[in-house]
Amino acid sequence: MKSILFVCLGNICRSPVVEAIARLEFQRAGLDVYVDSAGTADYHVGEQADARSRASAQRAGYDAEPHRARQLSADDFEQFDAVLAMDNRNLREILSRCPPRHRGKVALFLRHAGIASPLEVPDPYYGQDADFRRVIELGRMGVEKMIAALPTTA
Ligand code: 4NP
Repeated sequence: MKSILFVCLGNICRSPVVEAIARLEFQRAGLDVYVDSAGTADYHVGEQADARSRASAQRAGYDAEPHRARQLSADDFEQFDAVLAMDNRNLREILSRCPPRHRGKVALFLRHAGIASPLEVPDPYYGQDADFRRVIELGRMGVEKMIAALPTTA
């Protein structure tokens, strides 16, 4: 696994935070994995991550500041080894746009990580602080499980 794209709806709340967690934790683990994120929707293209996401990431020791939202593109299916959805709604949307030969790259993030329950990272956009903390918690759980399953380069 050399490159992973995390995908949510707006690319401002969930996937930028999971991307920031993965970037730091893969680096700490000595794993050379390129990570990025995108949204299935174009509502927030060009924007920074949501202020609540940036704050919760920072409190947990992750940096989502440099992120700018972008929409999932056809090229992403060529470029990335894995395209991981935050929830079933986005998984279905990604699969509907994915060429058949690349469908094997597309999965639910938490299922791909080997977590049986929960399977989704819930959308915190209309939620409270606790919902943003939950994104961090699930992001860390998933990334830690992925790291445990990957061979180290050392
Ligand atoms: P995300 O959250 O998919 O985790 O980035 C959302 C961001 C924006 C909206 C919905 C969810 N929105 O409806 O604008």
